[in-house]
Amino acid sequence: MHNVGCIGLGTMGTPMAWNIHRAGFRLGVYNRSAEKCSAFAREGIGVFASPAALAAWADIVIIMVFGPEALMEVLGGPDGAARSMAAGKTLINMSTVSREATLAAAEQVAACGASFLDAPVAGSKKPAEQGSLTILAGGSPDVLERVRPVLACMGRTIIHCGDAGAGTDMKLFINVLLGALMQSFAEALTLGTSFGLRVGDMLATVQSSAVACPLFSVKGTAIGSGDFEKNFPVELIFKDLDLALQAAGREHVPMPLTAAAREAFCAAMARGLADQDMCAVIRVLEEMTGRSVRDE
Ligand SMILES: NC(=O)c1ccc[n+]([C@@H]2O[C@H](COP(=O)([O-])OP(=O)(O)OC[C@H]3O[C@@H](n4cnc5c(N)ncnc54)[C@H](OP(=O)(O)O)[C@@H]3O)[C@@H](O)[C@H]2O)c1
Repeated sequence: MHNVGCIGLGTMGTPMAWNIHRAGFRLGVYNRSAEKCSAFAREGIGVFASPAALAAWADIVIIMVFGPEALMEVLGGPDGAARSMAAGKTLINMSTVSREATLAAAEQVAACGASFLDAPVAGSKKPAEQGSLTILAGGSPDVLERVRPVLACMGRTIIHCGDAGAGTDMKLFINVLLGALMQSFAEALTLGTSFGLRVGDMLATVQSSAVACPLFSVKGTAIGSGDFEKNFPVELIFKDLDLALQAAGREHVPMPLTAAAREAFCAAMARGLADQDMCAVIRVLEEMTGRSVRDE
């Protein structure tokens, strides 16, 4: 039986931690804003005052925070988890960060004699609640096998993508598609509305065509009913497209469509939509065109 410590109790980290608890592992938690730990404390779950204190207690430490800077803070900061990592312990980063941050984290953990796994996830709030995320693992196959029972509480599909860094690469790969598809869908729906087409008819057409996919079904329904409550918010897809474009620049891979999508999400951020679901990017187009993409 492992002691599993979870750092980061946001939209994703909270349900992931509950699933670890429900699977019977001994759970401990840390979050920068302490109030998000209260529900765990009420269930008798250990709440730790710092990532270092949590990592001293845990055999397996899972990090699920916003991005590269947050990862560096909870890992390498003055009270970071790295202070307590040692041989026999494993650190799993599940946050979406840059390849550079992943490799820097792997190096810091290895310097402590501990094991590291890169394991960002595909899937949003609902799959996190249902334990049906897709986990994109990078690292040694032995480490992956050792922690597989813990990962299996959170994800139904685990893909071993290669060495540390490959999970992060795969995550940016899939989110490039996600961001570009979302913006393209928002443009098509706005054009269709300007033609006078009904949203329900456009969604039915998409779903019976070659481009049918869960993204269009879920986001189309949300847009049609004006439900922009966040699952995967604008600020996260903006972060991920930004990370992908930085990597693409270094690799000399031109990505004009991704750059355009990044700018669309940037415009949504500028309109104060950072905390709304990524499908709220359509609200920028609605504002520009004076049209409302809704089912009456
Ligand atoms: N939401 C999704 O649908 C989804 C899907 C797949 C992957 N992801 C990825 O999963 C990760 C977490 O996403 P989320 O939706 O759970 O985000 P979130 O709800 O915004 O939560 C972010 C977490 O990071 C912590 N954090 C942020 N900056 C920090 C810092 N400087 N130091 C310490 N802690 C910090 C926050 O602490 P506070 O509570 O103190 O702010 C919070 O616990 C991100 O990398 C995201 O890209 C998200």
